[in-house]
Amino acid sequence: MQVILETPRLFLRRFTEEDAPLIHKFNRDPDVLKYVHEPVLKNDEEAKEVITNIILPQYKINLGRWAIHKRDDYEFIGWCGLKFIKETGITDLGYRLLKNAWGKGYATEAAQYTLIYGLRILKIKTITGKANFENKASIKILEKIGMKFSYNEIIDGIPVKVYSLSLPEITDIC
Ligand SMILES: CC(C)(COP(=O)(O)OP(=O)(O)OC[C@H]1O[C@@H](n2cnc3c(N)ncnc32)[C@H](O)[C@@H]1OP(=O)(O)O)[C@@H](O)C(=O)NCCC(=O)NCCS
Repeated sequence: MQVILETPRLFLRRFTEEDAPLIHKFNRDPDVLKYVHEPVLKNDEEAKEVITNIILPQYKINLGRWAIHKRDDYEFIGWCGLKFIKETGITDLGYRLLKNAWGKGYATEAAQYTLIYGLRILKIKTITGKANFENKASIKILEKIGMKFSYNEIIDGIPVKVYSLSLPEITDIC
């Protein structure tokens, strides 16, 4: 297991192909996928393809979506991480939790440490977070971790709010 970073209550580690059942667990829940414009995964095989084709390649550039576990009992609760989007040149901050872990501040905590890790340790110039206009919890997280509203855009016909943060801007929040 390769741990990437620790927070007061959580640790984030790299996924492996053996984690397909975990990815399937939340990517089959329509409530979790409500705002993320991704298809419901039908089985572990489809989840494994996501790991192989989307998650693992990002690890080669030290980015990626990382599995989140609670430190007290090692329970898996979701993922958080950074993804380089080739088409736009953006490094995207994302997070997704299993429903039973919602409402406890875990997403905020994971996103906060991931953001700082990306800017300070990985030396990424600017990190961007995008959220569906109606995804109030996600927008709240982006604002709480200190990201600045940048612009609105329409992606696949859906209004999205775009936030970003650069290294010189973090001195006043952390
Ligand atoms: C988005 C998501 C990670 C948030 O998880 P969470 O456990 O609720 O997050 P947190 O507890 O860390 O914080 C959420 C914040 O939003 C607030 N919030 C939640 N729902 C809200 C709503 N409908 N309106 C306004 N604020 C809301 C919470 O009160 C909390 O703020 P607070 O700590 O100041 O009270 C979770 O809902 C999820 O996994 N959703 C599915 C995937 C997804 O949409 N990912 C984001 C894609 S951009």
